[in-house]
Amino acid sequence: MSKHRVSRRQFLNYTLTGVGGFMAAGMLMPMVRFAVDPVLKASEGGDFIATKQRVDEITTEPQRVDFTFTQKDAWYESEVTNTAWVYRDDKGEIVALSPVCKHLGCVVSWGSDSANPDMFFCPCHYGLYTKDGVNVPGTPPLGPLDVFPYQERDGILYLGKAKPHKEA
Ligand code: FES
Repeated sequence: MSKHRVSRRQFLNYTLTGVGGFMAAGMLMPMVRFAVDPVLKASEGGDFIATKQRVDEITTEPQRVDFTFTQKDAWYESEVTNTAWVYRDDKGEIVALSPVCKHLGCVVSWGSDSANPDMFFCPCHYGLYTKDGVNVPGTPPLGPLDVFPYQERDGILYLGKAKPHKEA
């Protein structure tokens, strides 16, 4: 049987060192992560998020493209799915429009109003937008749909954060 006994002073020293180390690690980890985060982000491709949409399959007909990303609010992380309406314009340029109606934030969809099959339609208050996302005067929305910046990488469409339409 060992006669090694821990004195009260030693016990307090071990305990305080352990607790202090634990607390220091708890404070340092977020700081290290904060410092390294931009590097991690850059390697993930910045703020552009990969969709499942192949660029060579984008036609002149707007199609719904869903994309999912992880959103961080302080300590809370959640998976968010966003949607864009994507098509090629007359010049062959890709256009990616936000589906969020500029009246009160309902969701617009392409061609869902049988009376206006070639427009974006918001069912909440009968808002209409032309194909380029510009609001139709006389309907409730007061501005055009936001636009997602995009990138093409390895044939896949990446979308950034939606910005106000340049016609706004
Ligand atoms: S929210 Fe779209 S028309 Fe009102």
